[in-house]
Amino acid sequence: MADGSSETKSSNQMWGGRFASGPDAIMEEINASIGFDKKLYAQDIRGSIAHATMLAHQGIISAEDKDKIVHGLDTILSEIDSGAFEFSRRLEDIHMNIEARLAALIGPAAGRLHTARSRNDQVALDFRLWVKEELQKTEKALTGLIAAFLDRDEEHAETVMPGFTHLQTAQPVTFGHHCMAYVEMFGRDRARVRHAIEHMDESPIGAAALAGTGFPIDRHMTAKALGFREPTRNSIDTVSDRDFALEFLSIAAIAATHLSRLAEEIVIWSTPQFGFIRLSDAFSTGSSIMPQKKNPDAAELVRAKTGRVNGSLVALLTVMKGLPLAYSKDMQEDKEQVFDAAESLELAIAAMTGMIRDVTIRADRMKAAAGSGYSTATDLADWLVREAGLPFRDAHHVTGRVVALAEQKGCDLADLPLAELQAINSAITDKVYGVLTVEASVASRTSFGGTAPSEVRKQIAWWRARN
Ligand code: ARG
Repeated sequence: MADGSSETKSSNQMWGGRFASGPDAIMEEINASIGFDKKLYAQDIRGSIAHATMLAHQGIISAEDKDKIVHGLDTILSEIDSGAFEFSRRLEDIHMNIEARLAALIGPAAGRLHTARSRNDQVALDFRLWVKEELQKTEKALTGLIAAFLDRDEEHAETVMPGFTHLQTAQPVTFGHHCMAYVEMFGRDRARVRHAIEHMDESPIGAAALAGTGFPIDRHMTAKALGFREPTRNSIDTVSDRDFALEFLSIAAIAATHLSRLAEEIVIWSTPQFGFIRLSDAFSTGSSIMPQKKNPDAAELVRAKTGRVNGSLVALLTVMKGLPLAYSKDMQEDKEQVFDAAESLELAIAAMTGMIRDVTIRADRMKAAAGSGYSTATDLADWLVREAGLPFRDAHHVTGRVVALAEQKGCDLADLPLAELQAINSAITDKVYGVLTVEASVASRTSFGGTAPSEVRKQIAWWRARN
């Protein structure tokens, strides 16, 4: 496949004479990253403008050359923005594509831009800028999702539904309370995002290949110009570190896991058997053959996207785990994982926010289900402890007998005649009926963080003040 033609030779000029015979087609294919790292063009240009400005400020290049460079880079930015720019795979990556175009536009001054830097710190910078912006977008998206939940949870602070453990009816809870659990999860995700932004807010540019540079650069100046808190401290770590990408992927994987659990609940709740919710047409599809069906496709795809995001995390961890310091070309494989995970996560959050805003809650169905399965049995046991002075273990035993009786008669706890209850335990009075309804059950759970509507409203207020 190597043709050694003059065309290959000339396109390879940025590598110099050592590779005079040129990379063959396979090498070009495996080596090139332009197919995906072109996404970093805006960050690359911003970074180069900051670097050139600093070089001129420090007297390392002339002001005239700096002006030419900045003007040329601005031109390239609009060329790429408008779609006029021609990317070349022979030029390997976004950095060399832009630099080659700069040379074509402004001539020899372009060659001065790469003074006191390497593609190693350049790519670390571009990618970090991109991930930081993505984290900022994720923070906003999560805030939108939390806001959607808070509105719906406020509406349904009193809507009773069955609470589950082992997906078996456990105790009645409110729908608002159940959904506030997701607010807690997405709130933690957002806190992780904020922390990651803090953590990665250091500028890599100026680390050069790995050892720093002898030119009198000012890394604090470039850090400030690029919106970073400060420069990174160790040049070797700087070019070999991809923790910021791994942190992004870890956060994305946890958030996607939360979204997937919610998606799973939406799938279950929207079945005719549960019938707790009705999805809007916008987020479901019909069946081509079964006219009665309404499929929760958006929720299913959110659930599935989690697999991609988790896969990306494992892929990058695996790429990084055996690498000696400092930069190795393996690290070029970092970007696609992050880009794919970011796209999946963004889409999943957007779809979920839409679903939550649009979903119809079937409070009647939830309430009917909340009362089934003897869900207020714990309330009866608690009543026996409180009102009849029984130790909880004895109360649990008595309640077990009451449930068995109701099962045998095929009725709810509240439908059992007082005489039959008293035959099981003589301390039971007619006051017990007051705690056997689902409304009484949820209203009684006023412990901090509990399901009583009054507590749920406190949780909502807490989050409103922080959203
Ligand atoms: N395309 C490369 C990457 O994404 C840029 C850095 C190349 N550095 C090098 N020394 N070959 O990692």
